[in-house]
Amino acid sequence: MKVGLLHSLIRKEEKLLIEEFQARGVNLVMIDDRKLISDLESAPSVDILLERSINHSRSMYGLRLLEAAGVHCINSSEVAKICGDKILTSVALKEAGINQPPVRVAFTEESALSAIEELGYPVVLKPAVGSWGRLLSKVNDRESAEAILEHKALLGSYHHSIFYIQRFVEKKGRDIRSFVVGDKCIAAIYRSSSHWITNTARGATAVGCEVTTKIADISLAAANAVGGGVLAVDLFENDGEFSVNEVNYTMEFRNSIETTGVNIPAKVVDFTLGVDA
Ligand SMILES: Nc1ncnc2c1ncn2[C@@H]1O[C@H](COP(=O)(O)OP(=O)(O)O)[C@@H](O)[C@H]1O
Ligand SMILES: [Mg+2]
Repeated sequence: MKVGLLHSLIRKEEKLLIEEFQARGVNLVMIDDRKLISDLESAPSVDILLERSINHSRSMYGLRLLEAAGVHCINSSEVAKICGDKILTSVALKEAGINQPPVRVAFTEESALSAIEELGYPVVLKPAVGSWGRLLSKVNDRESAEAILEHKALLGSYHHSIFYIQRFVEKKGRDIRSFVVGDKCIAAIYRSSSHWITNTARGATAVGCEVTTKIADISLAAANAVGGGVLAVDLFENDGEFSVNEVNYTMEFRNSIETTGVNIPAKVVDFTLGVDA
């Protein structure tokens, strides 16, 4: 079997995946998104492709171009499009009836300020497209709201004037990251930090979290809502109730293998190869 790997820099995750494919004797075709030139129809000769690009636009367009040339991709370009955009993700979650923090979307400073006041402080402002906890603002009062909105509108590119606003969730120092591969929620971690932003890329600590039925159910529902595949779901827990913060499609898992005792890259490789593990 020939498997394509769409990638940029080879990080720890890609190294682990490559080792796992090699251990199965799979013929890997490396497709570096920095060298990729698409003529809209030529396709690499592969049976299936696993996407591991770092950059959202390259992933989304790369996948779409490869699909157009007839390559079956994990995840699909549609999944990438939805998960890479917090507005589209919120719409998909809403359409699937999945619990998420109260959210508002607005397109001007004035309407964004009204939306923030309507939600009530504190709120979190996020770029619709972004990750690793970058450029998130926790807004505690009207004066900071006005200042942040003005800075975004005047100093940011056009994308920063599309305001994605969520109510701040009291999550007691941690959130949950669950891992979905196909129709299974294979593992979960708590991400704890003294900072309100609990991305491990921002120094949060990963601790194993039992995959309860509730966690599995909401994680699988969220994954299906965005189209399914290999996905990592950010969950908030509040008084025993769960809500979905976002769904990530080129999931990172380096901090979660030893923590959970689950060989995550092996599960991803099984899924890619169509092995029913
Ligand atoms: N509404 C919120 N309430 C409380 N904490 C939040 C909220 N939104 C984000 N956070 C914190 O910030 C982190 C990063 O936010 P997230 O929406 O996942 O963006 P990113 O795509 O950058 O990971 C979350 O894991 C969480 O710790
Ligand atoms: Mg996140």
